[in-house]
Amino acid sequence: MATTVSEKLREYFRQNFGKTPEVLAQAPGRINIIGEHIDYNDGYVMPVAIDKYIRIAAGTNGRKGHFRIHALDLNESVEWTGALDPSKRPLWLNFIYGSLAEWTDDITAAEGLDMVFSGDIPTGAGLSSSAALEASSALAIARLWGIEIDKKSLALHCQKVEHQYVGVKCGIMDQYASIFGEHDRAILLDCLTISHTYLPLNLTKHLFLLCNTGVTHSLASSGYNERRSSCEKVFSLVKAGAPEISSWREVTIELLQAFRSQLSLQDYHRAIHVIQEIRRVKDASRALQDHDLKTLGNLMYQSHADLSEKYDVSCVELDFLVEEARKEPAILGSRMMGGGFGGCTLNLIEENAVEDFVERVSKAYRDAFNLKLECYFVHSGQGAHVITQH
Ligand code: GLA
Repeated sequence: MATTVSEKLREYFRQNFGKTPEVLAQAPGRINIIGEHIDYNDGYVMPVAIDKYIRIAAGTNGRKGHFRIHALDLNESVEWTGALDPSKRPLWLNFIYGSLAEWTDDITAAEGLDMVFSGDIPTGAGLSSSAALEASSALAIARLWGIEIDKKSLALHCQKVEHQYVGVKCGIMDQYASIFGEHDRAILLDCLTISHTYLPLNLTKHLFLLCNTGVTHSLASSGYNERRSSCEKVFSLVKAGAPEISSWREVTIELLQAFRSQLSLQDYHRAIHVIQEIRRVKDASRALQDHDLKTLGNLMYQSHADLSEKYDVSCVELDFLVEEARKEPAILGSRMMGGGFGGCTLNLIEENAVEDFVERVSKAYRDAFNLKLECYFVHSGQGAHVITQH
């Protein structure tokens, strides 16, 4: 993000809070190469932090329990003292409020803070602007309140904020990627042990292109939580009949078949996606390390097919874009990305074919849905960090 964002934040801070901010922190959004809806099912996922960020300027204000927070891009402010009733919190504030509330026993006695934030991560695009806001604000608050926290605990803390203050029972992928991301590396995250290794992101003549449907269907959070509980139900059932199983990783299609009659078709299909996606990520990590982009791309297409047909988290706009990608020989793989029900497709495409494809697919998308398609190249970015501290 250009330094002008920091300047704008500093300027706002000085003018409205009467001093320079003590801390400037930022956290990135993420893409996910493969491994969708399995971070909460003991799987592996393969996110990459991107060079789009939320940046936050923060400082203490000397008044116990007093908070002033401004969302620069929305031009919205909230100012309050003590605890703030959920009905008085705009959605964006919950991502920050959760940290304030979690890290103090008595918010009325806590050191008061002022904050202003801005970002360039498109919202509702499945690029985890929420996790970036959680991570950047948590980092700033921790610095100002003198809280020592390691990166993994910070990721778990941010996930808890999302569960308890936003109401989405998300997995750990987004927060972890926003905190552990590194330039030119994909994270192979083991969601069972919550640990990772890095994989080199060497795509030579290819790149990742995002095509943003521009739509967010209303099912997004209820549909997400509902799938999560459906998977928990299936797992409990399988475990009751096969107690030696300790995670989804040990559930095979054959084992699942043994419980077929006790499962609804919907739950059975969802379980198939989970089992196959866990295997696909393992195969994809090998393919990426062997620089076998063709195999990687095929796995992406397979992932999309299951997310659409079995897990049922795609939508007509996403399916349309993946079908358009399939017609383009220079695209090795394409799939919906993130929670689904809208947002972006991720496309692995030859560099020199990007321009033509973007022109063709944008026209086709406009003709089909009367919507403007936004396409972005993805560059990797750096995980959450404090930029300056006075
Ligand atoms: C959202 C959640 C993640 C993950 C993805 C789907 O982004 O926040 O935890 O479950 O959906 O893979």
